[in-house]
Amino acid sequence: MKRIGILTGGGDAPGLNAVIRAVVLTAHNRFQWEVVGIQEGFDGLYHGLPVIPLDPNNMRDLLLRGGTILGTANRGSPFAHPVHLPDGTIEYEDVSHIALSRMADYGMDALIVAGGDGTMSISHKLVKMGARIVGVPKTIDNDLAHTDVTFGFETAINTATEALDKLQTTAESHHRIMVLEVMGRNAGWIAMQAGVAGGADAILIPEIPFNIDVVCNQIRRIQLSGRHYSLIIVAEGATPIGGVQQYAIPDYAKGGARLGGIGHQVGATLAECVGGEVRVTVLGHVQRGGQPSPSDRWLATRFGAAAVHLVAEERWGYMAALQAQKMVAVPIEQAIQMKFVDPQGELVRMARDLGIVFG
Ligand code: F6P
Repeated sequence: MKRIGILTGGGDAPGLNAVIRAVVLTAHNRFQWEVVGIQEGFDGLYHGLPVIPLDPNNMRDLLLRGGTILGTANRGSPFAHPVHLPDGTIEYEDVSHIALSRMADYGMDALIVAGGDGTMSISHKLVKMGARIVGVPKTIDNDLAHTDVTFGFETAINTATEALDKLQTTAESHHRIMVLEVMGRNAGWIAMQAGVAGGADAILIPEIPFNIDVVCNQIRRIQLSGRHYSLIIVAEGATPIGGVQQYAIPDYAKGGARLGGIGHQVGATLAECVGGEVRVTVLGHVQRGGQPSPSDRWLATRFGAAAVHLVAEERWGYMAALQAQKMVAVPIEQAIQMKFVDPQGELVRMARDLGIVFG
């Protein structure tokens, strides 16, 4: 092995640069390998963008930098590359063989991919075609299976909890019901953990379709107890019983369908049923930005270093994962099965015991 590549795919997450740093330093110090960065995720690989030589002497500031110095793309795939036709329609083409041949063009002996389920699914398919890829689990959503946690998640929880803390003081002053919509796609991990940490009165998550009357009753009960404000946290993927998910961007062709809007729907219904003043905050991409927390830097560093060792062991198609505090390797195929909050599990039970309702 002489030259390995690294790419960051999907939505960015705090800690990606710490992964890059750990890969470069471990590859250089432990194995004397050169590392090059692929720009803009798998898009850059397919388009043959120039690779970025990653100098171990230039890794100094990466630990604390959010985002990814390599750039990333949160849509598209070499297996379904959009081609814009003259009549305005879009066709999707399989260009995976081109992406694969670029790895050889770049003289890369192996590729480390940091990404979430979309990026890992692409990696899995490319491995089946013969690509020498290992994975690093990244996503603020924490929804990859077979790893206890992904990096970026803790920083997102910190941001969402801080938002609830701030909403609480203003809610108290104005006697308001505050609704906070957080990210997480089809998993409720961010809402669940930030909701408990920030003292939410109701947590609405995709795994438990909600009955808004339960939330209304909770707010009335709180008001009767003499507290005149409430905090409700809603995951962007949550749905009322029998209802459907809300989309802020429904059109795939314009960049991928994106969830969003359930917070305002919940807010409007609560204003009707409880009658008090309701305000809605959609936290959005603030959850993905900024400096990674110290724990995310630590985790990202462990993942990055472990990925280099997976390359050394030639464990293609494996992803570094954290299980019971230990760094292990799991097949990417298993990681993309996803991980959700168990509606009957210990975490939901504990939250219910605290008096939190799930609708
Ligand atoms: O997967 C990470 C995530 O932030 C989700 O929580 C969210 O639904 C989505 O990405 C937003 O994507 P984009 O950055 O493309 O708007």
